[in-house]
Amino acid sequence: MSTVLIMGASRGIGLEFVRQYREAGERVIATARDDQGLERLRALGAEPLRLDVGQPTSVSALSWQLDGEKLDVALYVAGVIDRASAASPPTQPTFDRVMHTNVMGAMQVIPQVLPLVEEAGGVFGALSSAMSQIGSVPGSNSWLYRVSKAALNMAVSSARFDYPKARLVALDPGWVQTDMGGGGAPLTAEASVRGLRAVLASVTPEDNGRLIHHDGRRAGHW
Ligand SMILES: NC(=O)c1ccc[n+]([C@@H]2O[C@H](COP(=O)([O-])OP(=O)(O)OC[C@H]3O[C@@H](n4cnc5c(N)ncnc54)[C@H](OP(=O)(O)O)[C@@H]3O)[C@@H](O)[C@H]2O)c1
Repeated sequence: MSTVLIMGASRGIGLEFVRQYREAGERVIATARDDQGLERLRALGAEPLRLDVGQPTSVSALSWQLDGEKLDVALYVAGVIDRASAASPPTQPTFDRVMHTNVMGAMQVIPQVLPLVEEAGGVFGALSSAMSQIGSVPGSNSWLYRVSKAALNMAVSSARFDYPKARLVALDPGWVQTDMGGGGAPLTAEASVRGLRAVLASVTPEDNGRLIHHDGRRAGHW
């Protein structure tokens, strides 16, 4: 039985990861930031932890909460979007909310969680997006979100040098039917997560630091 940690699992893609890994018989430790989210995780048989990735004090509690664990898979799923384009500047509160959740939280989690992933020779995945890819930008919609996910990719790619016994990748789930993706998205959370679980099971040392799509395609450009 593998041990899987999912950070940002109260709903959407994170909650579906919990459901599928539990269904596969794995031990799942999963985080949410409110009581309703924690209850949903408990109901699926996960071990719930309270975590707000935008609050450094909350993130710093992870170390002792996970003391002694060996993590085969650790996933940073928490994320928020802002859809404004480059026609308007982000306000500081909006910038802080998106960058703290999508980037700072991941950079604070990595040094705490990666030693536990190394203990198991496991995989760390951060939920990024095709919208992070500088080599294929079709427009400026959601430009702050694009910036945050490009920064997240860099955090993952550079961190791999400090944790050589783990594999670190950024993951593109596709456009998925969740609160963020909306009902018009082509992929169900079930299909996206099924693909991402197959990707996680197939990550090789050569993939270290890359962005990988839910269907297994390795990104040519970030
Ligand atoms: N859906 C898509 O089409 C799509 C496409 C590309 C990439 N992604 C990425 O995939 C990931 C999951 O997206 P989703 O579609 O499942 O989004 P979602 O349905 O909006 O869920 C977002 C999740 O992030 C959590 N979260 C947000 N801020 C947090 C914080 N400060 N601390 C802890 N958790 C926090 C939310 O928890 P609360 O319930 O507490 O708010 C929720 O569990 C995100 O990183 C997103 O950028 C999604």
